[in-house]
Amino acid sequence: MDTNPNPLPAKPAADSRVTFARTMTVLDANAVGNVHGGVIMKEVDSAGGTAAARHAGRVCVTAGIDELSFRQPVHVGDVLTVAASVNAVGRTSLEVGVRVEAEPWQGGERRHTTSAYLVFVCLDEDGAPVEVPPLLVTNEEERRREAQAGIRRQVRKERIARIGSWRPDRPHPASPEA
Ligand SMILES: CC(C)(COP(=O)(O)OP(=O)(O)OC[C@H]1O[C@@H](n2cnc3c(N)ncnc32)[C@H](O)[C@@H]1OP(=O)(O)O)[C@@H](O)C(=O)NCCC(=O)NCCS
Repeated sequence: MDTNPNPLPAKPAADSRVTFARTMTVLDANAVGNVHGGVIMKEVDSAGGTAAARHAGRVCVTAGIDELSFRQPVHVGDVLTVAASVNAVGRTSLEVGVRVEAEPWQGGERRHTTSAYLVFVCLDEDGAPVEVPPLLVTNEEERRREAQAGIRRQVRKERIARIGSWRPDRPHPASPEA
């Protein structure tokens, strides 16, 4: 029997979904003239954090990134569209999936350029992790995302069990005390 039921009401995944759009300029470029990966990462983190905070109704901080793949370059003049949605929730953490698409500002082919899966932790007024509302998934797509987030969480736990963690309370595997 669950001895610690989450008392918060469940919230639909669709309610916290967000989409950001911004045209890339020369200020976003790297040395070879494409958009710098760090610029895209910032947009991914911002959209992901907004979706997490909308679901939680509180401040959420980025705890980690399980995956971030740059599939195609983004060019100066592209309109970047960044869509983020909560895939799954734990006790105090949430996984947010972010999909980035780009298209020339004049119109043209829309490309899927980046995908990312980030983990945010919801904090209370004292900065301590606090429970997040359960997630209500209502269709096949949302159920698939939730199931895949569960696999990533499991893989993360297995990785930490096998090679250790960055956490200060657990020695790095390369350190003498490991
Ligand atoms: C994220 C942070 C609050 C976690 O604190 P903590 O004391 O390690 O928290 P806990 O061990 O109690 O774990 C809380 C939750 O976070 C998850 N978590 C913690 N570190 C994680 C990581 N690196 N990746 C994924 N999940 C993580 C835990 O699995 C747990 O999830 P659950 O409650 O859903 O089971 C803390 O490490 C922190 O403040 N980090 C800095 C955040 C920051 O500055 N981000 C950049 C700017 S927003």
